[in-house]
Amino acid sequence: MRKIIAYKAKQKKRSINQEFFEVIKDMYEHPAVQEMKKYNHHCDTDCLQHCLNVAYYNYQICKFLGLNAKAAARAAMVHDLFLYDWHKHASETGDRFHALTHPKVALRNAKKYFKLTPLEQEIILNHMWPVTFYRSPKSWESFITTCTDKVCGLCEFTTFYSYKVFPVRPFSQR
Ligand SMILES: [Fe+2]
Ligand SMILES: [Fe+2]
Repeated sequence: MRKIIAYKAKQKKRSINQEFFEVIKDMYEHPAVQEMKKYNHHCDTDCLQHCLNVAYYNYQICKFLGLNAKAAARAAMVHDLFLYDWHKHASETGDRFHALTHPKVALRNAKKYFKLTPLEQEIILNHMWPVTFYRSPKSWESFITTCTDKVCGLCEFTTFYSYKVFPVRPFSQR
C-alpha cells in the first residue's frame, strides 16, 4: 500500500513538473531569457536559475491555492530580466538603486519579447516589495512572488555559504 501511495505521489509530481515546463517553455527557450545565464545573481546562482526557481515554486504554491499559477510562473520567469551584471551596474552606469529600478527594466525587456497579461505585468513590477515600499502587490499572485523571490534568494545565498563552511560532505553531488 505504501509503495502505491509513493508511486502515485511520484507520478503526480512528474505531471505537475511537465505542466510547469509547458507553461514556461517558450520563455525558457528564448535567447533573451537564456542570456540571463551570463549574469551571476546570488553568489554562484545565475539569473536564469534564480528566475526558474521562483517560477517553479510560484507555480506549485499558486496551483495549490487555486490562483493563477500560469501567470505567476510566467511572470516569475522574467521578473529579473534586466540583462546586466548588477554587481558592476552602479560603477558602470551611476545607478546606485538597482534594487528599486530593476523591476521596471525587467518589465520593459519582457514586454519587448513576450505578450504579457496585466496580471503578469503587475507581478513583475511589484516583485521587490517591501523594498519598493511605494509600489505594493495588487494581487495574491504578486504577493506570493514577493515571498518566493526572497525565500529563493535566501536559499541561494545560504547554499553557497554553507558549502564554503562545510565543503566536504558525504554523498555530496556538488
Ligand atoms: Fe528582482
Ligand atoms: Fe528575483
